[in-house]
Formats: sequence, structure tokens, C-alpha cells
Amino acid sequence: MRHAISYVSTANPNLNEEDIANLFKQVNEFNSHHNITGVLLYTETNFFQLIEGEEDEIKSLYSRIEKDSHHNNIIKFVDKPVVNPAFDGYISRVVTDTSKLNRANLKEYLHHIDVLGPASRKAVGRVVESIAGD
Ligand SMILES: Cc1cc2nc3c(=O)[nH]c(=O)nc-3n(C[C@H](O)[C@H](O)[C@H](O)COP(=O)(O)O)c2cc1C
Repeated sequence: MRHAISYVSTANPNLNEEDIANLFKQVNEFNSHHNITGVLLYTETNFFQLIEGEEDEIKSLYSRIEKDSHHNNIIKFVDKPVVNPAFDGYISRVVTDTSKLNRANLKEYLHHIDVLGPASRKAVGRVVESIAGD
């Protein structure tokens, strides 16, 4: 069964555009080769991520992510099996101007997250709204 983990974290303030581009490249390559789906959002202050895939793979990836010095203050709020996979692929977005992540995009993400169930959807929704603004 597939497993999902979602968290929000504080981005290391020293990260520059190149660091983020390199990170996103690495994430997209690894995840697409390991059938890991989900979403990664970056604002100047935060990361939001949802990773979904085979349970052992997701748990070991998350333990690497936890140790990564690109961020800290990781708050995990979803860690559960998923019956119906939520995503077809991996979406990585840099949200430099928070207003650019508009309501339509937000709805697109939250629609994917529906399958996690109402409690997780609510938690993820609140977090995404708080980093995405309105
Ligand atoms: C916010 C954030 C999200 C990350 N997400 C992923 C990811 O989805 N997939 C991935 O392979 N690496 C991801 N990484 C990178 C991992 O933390 C780690 O650098 C990578 O798995 C290589 O680990 P290693 O240096 O121990 O081999 C992420 C890093 C950060 C800071």
C-alpha cells in the first residue's frame, strides 16, 4: 500500500536561487525514478511538501529529508497509508511572490489531497493557505 507524509518546515535563510533549482532538480529526478508523487512548494521562508509512495521508500526518504540542512523546524502533520493515490506525478513549485499561488492553484492541490480523508485534508489545507496567502 502507498504511504503519504506531509510536513511544513522553515527554509534556511541563506538559500539562493541556484540552491533551490539544484534541490528541485534532484527531487524531480529521484522521485520520478522511484514512483514518488506529491507536491513541493517553496516560499522564501517555508517549504511545504507531500510525498507519496511505497511505505519503506517514503519513510527512508523522509529520514534523509529531516537531516537536510536546507531547512529546520520540520512539523509533520500527515503520516498515513493511502488507499487511492492522490497524485499522478510530482509537482514542484517555487512561490516567490506568495500572491502568485492563487486560489485556482490552491484548489488544484487541495483536490489531490481529498483522498487522504477529511482530517488530513483540513490540516494540509490550513498549512497551504497559511504559506500561500490569499
Ligand atoms: C524541503 C526538502 C524536500 C526534499 N524532498 C526530497 C524528495 O522529495 N526527494 C528526494 O530525493 N530528495 C529530497 N530532498 C533532498 C534530501 O533531503 C536529500 O538531500 C537527498 O535525499 C539525498 O540524500 P543523501 O545526501 O543522504 O544521499 C529534499 C530536501 C529538502 C530540503
